[in-house]
Amino acid sequence: MPMKVLFIGGTGFISTAVSRLAIAEGFELYLLNRGSRGIDLPGSRQLTADIRNAADVRAALNDLEFDVVVDWIAFTPDDVERDLALFRGRVKQYVFISSASAYEKPPTHYLITESTPLSNPYWQYSRDKIGCEARLTQAHRDEAFPVTIVRPSLTYDRNLPIAIGGWGCYTLADRLRRGAPIIVHGDGSSLWVVTHAEDFARGFVGLLGDERAVGEAFHITSDEVLTWNQIYHTIAEALGVEANVVHIPSDFIAGVAPQMAGSLLGDKTWSVVFDNGKIKAFVPRFQAVIPFREGVARTLAWFAADESRRCIDDTVNAEMDRILAAYAGGPA
Ligand SMILES: NC(=O)c1ccc[n+]([C@@H]2O[C@H](COP(=O)([O-])OP(=O)(O)OC[C@H]3O[C@@H](n4cnc5c(N)ncnc54)[C@H](OP(=O)(O)O)[C@@H]3O)[C@@H](O)[C@H]2O)c1
Repeated sequence: MPMKVLFIGGTGFISTAVSRLAIAEGFELYLLNRGSRGIDLPGSRQLTADIRNAADVRAALNDLEFDVVVDWIAFTPDDVERDLALFRGRVKQYVFISSASAYEKPPTHYLITESTPLSNPYWQYSRDKIGCEARLTQAHRDEAFPVTIVRPSLTYDRNLPIAIGGWGCYTLADRLRRGAPIIVHGDGSSLWVVTHAEDFARGFVGLLGDERAVGEAFHITSDEVLTWNQIYHTIAEALGVEANVVHIPSDFIAGVAPQMAGSLLGDKTWSVVFDNGKIKAFVPRFQAVIPFREGVARTLAWFAADESRRCIDDTVNAEMDRILAAYAGGPA
């Protein structure tokens, strides 16, 4: 009997590659989402509902039973409370997608293991993920709720893995192509790790249905360590252009654009490198094999294949120009 797996989400930037691999590996995969992304995953079974609509979700799930449930889009303790109500006593494994930004900031050591403490005074998103983990860990302790926690770090596929320049859009690539200035936080020398979703998928799918993974937390990343300068210059190189980089201290950016404070001061400002020993011990075949140079070429080829994918976010452009002007001494 194939293992029956439900993904809440499943057609997103990370989860699409995971869905593809799960199907290829013979899992019976159900996807619960709004069906709005036009992503074709032959072999999956679609359950259409908005996760925020309890009646629709219950109707979509009906009396289906799953071996494994993965919630890709739980962000707050209320979200996991809903999932506990939906799935307690009904699944052998529930996977919560947390975030590596939950690891302590500032880091006391650059090398992150799953035992690195969780705390993030800078970013509410990370504190909410920590709250979710705490609630699920308590449910595991008190009622044997079979949770596995996975903490992705910056993971990409049809999106550019950048700190400033837009998420899921073509805005940064367009600026690079036009020779417009781009912002790299700090002096660009802090160390960072970006992971291709197909690499992430190989580690992740190996955890599904593994009862040893219940009660455990994992990150799954590349072992390739880059500076932010290398990340942006590699993107520029793949586009065949020179990057016009302006380095701006993170705290200056956060002062001018407070909505960026969490993601910068609570995450991308700090050097982090991940020890992937734990995921490799649980899933021995896991090894990230897609270097960024190759992964970003694939991402840009995906954008290049269809003009409608190359969307430009005017708000992101305006915000970058505003920060650049403020840094150059103009009006903030
Ligand atoms: N990418 C990273 O670098 C990174 C790093 C750390 C942590 N994470 C975590 O990874 C998770 C995101 O995974 P992802 O990249 O695959 O997601 P994503 O790109 O944000 O896609 C969201 C998925 O959820 C569905 N969805 C969104 N809103 C929904 C709703 N109201 N009801 C039902 N379905 C809904 C979407 O399909 P429809 O729109 O069709 O409904 C889609 O399948 C998050 O928990 C995030 O915190 C990501």
